[in-house]
Amino acid sequence: MAEFMTLMTDAEFEALIDRNSPSLGKGGSRLVHAALGRDDLVIKESLQPFPSGNFTEWTVWNAVEKMAEDIMGNQQNTDLLTLFARCFSISQNGRYLMMERLLPLEPTDRVPMTKFPQWLTDKKPNAFGRTAEGQIKVLDYGLINFYLALNPKNRNGNSIY
Ligand SMILES: Nc1ncnc2c1ncn2[C@@H]1O[C@H](COP(=O)(O)OP(=O)(O)O)[C@@H](O)[C@H]1O
Ligand SMILES: [Mg+2]
Repeated sequence: MAEFMTLMTDAEFEALIDRNSPSLGKGGSRLVHAALGRDDLVIKESLQPFPSGNFTEWTVWNAVEKMAEDIMGNQQNTDLLTLFARCFSISQNGRYLMMERLLPLEPTDRVPMTKFPQWLTDKKPNAFGRTAEGQIKVLDYGLINFYLALNPKNRNGNSIY
């Protein structure tokens, strides 16, 4: 994935959107596009003036990656790395976000909810997808419960997060 810059302009993102392919989905705040020539990526376009969903996903993904690093003095935590759809790139004002493309869940798939952090706000099935190998990941984590995430004293014991 090294061929994409972490930060790109809106124009660079717009050139990567596959306009001939139907959009892959639409939520309350974003339209999700297929990427030209790439069936492994999506481009999320924020439809709001302040692109909080893209910004939050980008921030959360970077934290998930960082906590999985083996850094001296830190307790390495790789638990979330396979549970969150990877983010690759964001546009300079956050309007566009490039994310790993997931497949829809199969009817027999069950989301292992206890593995996911409690601070995820959208826990409906359409917030999750699967990789070709069957790994279930959250693909909509644009809205998280910061109150839960930032205050460890709020945890009720169902989850370690
Ligand atoms: N990474 C992805 N891979 C495949 N489909 C996706 C991906 N992200 C979003 N989608 C599809 O687009 C829909 C809307 O995206 P979502 O991130 O939920 O937007 P919103 O934040 O507006 O709810 C999702 O419900 C899903 O169907
Ligand atoms: Mg959604």
